[in-house]
Amino acid sequence: MDKITISLIKADVGGWPGHSTVHPDLIETAKEALQKAKDEHILEDFHVTGVGDDLQLIMTHRKGVDSEEIHKLAWNTFEKATAVAKELKLYGAGQDLLKDAFSGNIRGMGPGIAEMEITERKSEPIVAFMMDKTEPGAFNLPIYRIFADPFNTAGLVIDPSMHDGFKFEVWDIMEHKKVIMHSPKEMYDLLALIGAKSRYVIKRVYATESNPKVKGEVVAVVSTEKLYQIAGEYIGKDDPVALVRAQSGCPALGEVLEPFAFPHLVSGWMRGSHNGPLMPVSIKQAHCTRFDGPPRVAALGFQVANGRLVGPVDLFDDPAFDRARETAQYIADYMRRHGPFEPHRLPLEEMEYTTLPKVLTKLKDRFEKIQ
Ligand code: 13P
Ligand code: 13P
Ligand code: MG
Ligand code: MG
Repeated sequence: MDKITISLIKADVGGWPGHSTVHPDLIETAKEALQKAKDEHILEDFHVTGVGDDLQLIMTHRKGVDSEEIHKLAWNTFEKATAVAKELKLYGAGQDLLKDAFSGNIRGMGPGIAEMEITERKSEPIVAFMMDKTEPGAFNLPIYRIFADPFNTAGLVIDPSMHDGFKFEVWDIMEHKKVIMHSPKEMYDLLALIGAKSRYVIKRVYATESNPKVKGEVVAVVSTEKLYQIAGEYIGKDDPVALVRAQSGCPALGEVLEPFAFPHLVSGWMRGSHNGPLMPVSIKQAHCTRFDGPPRVAALGFQVANGRLVGPVDLFDDPAFDRARETAQYIADYMRRHGPFEPHRLPLEEMEYTTLPKVLTKLKDRFEKIQ
């Protein structure tokens, strides 16, 4: 069976206006570039969209993960879109392109990247999740619930192919280390790590070898790039994306979407400095307006058919998620009333890479010793 690679690569190359949305000309520019690559048989298929101020390239190809050719294509596409953004004087044009020249792999250069090489099953449903105004750890709770929580995923209880659970690859993004943990065997240890979502982030989930339908394969992948670590200062949040496979040995599509009915608190929002609810929205509603948010997640569903992306279906464009959106707005009101106070504002250690230290430096000499 041929392998297929799905690469979701995104960057903020300019907001319209402020940090709210992607200008349609950037989407058109990216579509043209990827269509050319498809005509040249570099890509099997692609879909371009925008979520908040992030330009999203969803691509299928046969070149495996970390392919220089595909990463270069994405980089060049973002550069072309940046040129348009500069002409329109969009806000933060080229914001996430942190290096001057492409050097073989797009990782560590600013854009966020989630890619997986898989054996295409008889039927291959896949969901591309795209968040704006938050950080990679925002995926910890929903990914955990999808693949490890039987109160979310009925299949963990009633589908024997999933009874051996799943393996989680967790990254310590401060120490640059990773560990693989098995759920349910090590569920509590796993939670001890991933509950600390600003440091320990789920990078991948694998099926066990005993899962007859997806034997040991990767079933989910999350982008974990940290912009401030590359840039050395705050330039924007690391708005993350993820790819999740559904059905046949994996959680069903509805089990994959179910955690997002709870708008959990994530960090990001205004100036990347605030906790707020993650609101599930359609692409049409993925405009970050109120206080530059609240943080949002959109979900596009596809069937992958011999490399072709059959879709997208805008999965949160559904009244079934209205209550989650309403709850998110209620939480947004409640959190906003704290103004500059924690826990709406992030704790000090997470403010280190924002512009706040400059304010504190100004006050440094005013401090006197307390007797
Ligand atoms: P300004 O410096 O334009 O006020 O931008 C702040 C901001 O939006 C941080 O990303
Ligand atoms: P982005 O990370 O989406 O560019 O947002 C930055 C910001 O400062 C929003 O207030
Ligand atoms: Mg931006
Ligand atoms: Mg963004």
